[in-house]
Amino acid sequence: MYTSRISGLGHFVPENIVTNEDLSKLMDTNDEWIQERTGIKERRWIEKGSDETSASMGAKAAKIAIAKAGIDKDDIDFIIFATLSPDMYFPGCGVQIQDMLDLPTIGALDVRNQCSGFVYALSVADQFIKTGMYKNILVIGSEFHSGGLDISDRGRGVSVIFGDGAGALILTRSDDEKRRILSTHLHSEGKHAKELTVEGPSIAHWVPEILNNPDDISYYPYMNGTFVFKNAVVRFSEVIMEGLLTNGLTPADINMFIPHQANLRISQFVQKKFKLRDDQVYNNIQKYGNTTAASIVIALSEAWEEGKVNKGDLVVLAAFGSGFTWASAIIRW
Ligand code: UT7
Repeated sequence: MYTSRISGLGHFVPENIVTNEDLSKLMDTNDEWIQERTGIKERRWIEKGSDETSASMGAKAAKIAIAKAGIDKDDIDFIIFATLSPDMYFPGCGVQIQDMLDLPTIGALDVRNQCSGFVYALSVADQFIKTGMYKNILVIGSEFHSGGLDISDRGRGVSVIFGDGAGALILTRSDDEKRRILSTHLHSEGKHAKELTVEGPSIAHWVPEILNNPDDISYYPYMNGTFVFKNAVVRFSEVIMEGLLTNGLTPADINMFIPHQANLRISQFVQKKFKLRDDQVYNNIQKYGNTTAASIVIALSEAWEEGKVNKGDLVVLAAFGSGFTWASAIIRW
């Protein structure tokens, strides 16, 4: 059986920086509240009027990942694109990447697992590589949140958290038994779907319903923040332990933990629970906010670029979010 390893990483964030101070001019919020509850200082939002989208940012991140992997774009066998903010209701962003990067007519799959989307996508890629079906898979996580947020007092509990950005990696076939993705762990609990959701547009909330009701907010994100927070800390811990136990490892073996950047307070809770030092955890939510399916791969790309992820390191990725879904990946780098 083959093994899979990450051979290249890249990320792209829009230039436009939106600080907490900037947001306080748009809605009833303030820097102190945002930093205290979430750790976020600023986020990137695509400039109004720009033609940047989830797919275009994903393509930019992908080009960097391909170059860093040292492969030709035509060596890519398959595309997996994770996002909750696709350019179109359908088709998904994966096929746009095939076109934007002028790739051969390879398969393209979209993953709709929100904050856990990137770990789900990585897991799918890992299975395709292990079975020998593909050699190089392009895995992208990208989000254009700012175009769909309720930027008003009504939406302040959600809108201050989210940012735009994209990350990508190349997963490559290997025969190295030691340095590889050791395991991935995926979960869901659909009974909580409505605790963090955008209900419309959907077939159940289709255009006439929305147009005929100007007060319809079903197309803005809704989040029961406290409930999500409480579930997140439990599920993060469970899925990390599940991954470690599967591989006969303990929290002390972790060299780098990269949590989905949902809220710095969640990451700190998990860090404390597993008794991890600051240099064992990578957070960048302070400057990018929560970029959902892009957050882990942007953080992994940055940590790798900064030399914080090295050969032989045990890297743990974990995510929790809408669905609810949660997931982890245990990687020997
Ligand atoms: O990535 C996907 C997974 N998502 C998460 O994991 C997010 C999990 N949840 C959270 O991170 C937190 O619940 C939030 C940061 C979203 C909210 O923090 P909270 O401590 O749960 O705040 P809250 O919603 O209970 O609101 C507390 C107060 C309320 O005012 P009152 O009723 O106490 O007077 C809100 O109206 O804070 C108010 N508030 C704000 N004030 C200033 C809500 N949003 C804001 C805001 N600025 N942006």
